[in-house]
Amino acid sequence: SVLADLTGRLLAWYAREGRDLPWRVKGGARPDPYRVWLSEVMLQQTTVATVGPYYAAFLARWPTVGALAGASLDDVLTAWAGLGYYARARNLHACARAVVEHHQGRFPDTEAALHTLPGVGAYTAAAIAAIAFGRRAVVVDGNVERVMARLFALGDPLPGARKALKARADSLTPEAAQAGDYAQAVMDLGATLCTPRNPACGLCPWRDACQGRRLGLAESLPAKAPR
Ligand code: ADE
Repeated sequence: SVLADLTGRLLAWYAREGRDLPWRVKGGARPDPYRVWLSEVMLQQTTVATVGPYYAAFLARWPTVGALAGASLDDVLTAWAGLGYYARARNLHACARAVVEHHQGRFPDTEAALHTLPGVGAYTAAAIAAIAFGRRAVVVDGNVERVMARLFALGDPLPGARKALKARADSLTPEAAQAGDYAQAVMDLGATLCTPRNPACGLCPWRDACQGRRLGLAESLPAKAPR
């Protein structure tokens, strides 16, 4: 089908051009859920470049979720200093303790159960389910919303367009085994080519299918809400 073909082209692009990020593992193996969770929480309001050293330091000091649960909140907040949005660090610590107290020290393996953990919202639950557990979950962050708005030339502004954008992301999400790679591929596309300004449409694996590009609208999507 047309959609499956788009998904396949993006996965092929990701295999060639996907970023080499510290929490990714090569060769189709599933990464440690603790590492996926830690990286996704850190990446919520912080760029990949800033997160790198913090991610490495946290893993060196607290290599497992059990180790992090055993840390004091003060130590976690101090190690977090510089990343900002300190509620994330408090939730990080509370989540580690919840995994130990309520889940025998192992992250639960469904999107719904993950969503009940402190600080794990819809995006993070879907990301962990897909990337770490090979579940078919629809992962939507700001990058994914921008890419979908452009690919399908959806002109409604956020936040009203959110449901429609998620439905488009769902329509492109492959079966469980590839859902994690697919999610990370769209996010990489949004971070490296389908950027807010000056998108590099000529290099995009979806350039011939992109309705926003065809209409000369790519850079103006998603539309800004009137203010
Ligand atoms: N942004 C947040 N999480 C990401 C991931 N796993 N891959 C690429 N970009 C991301």
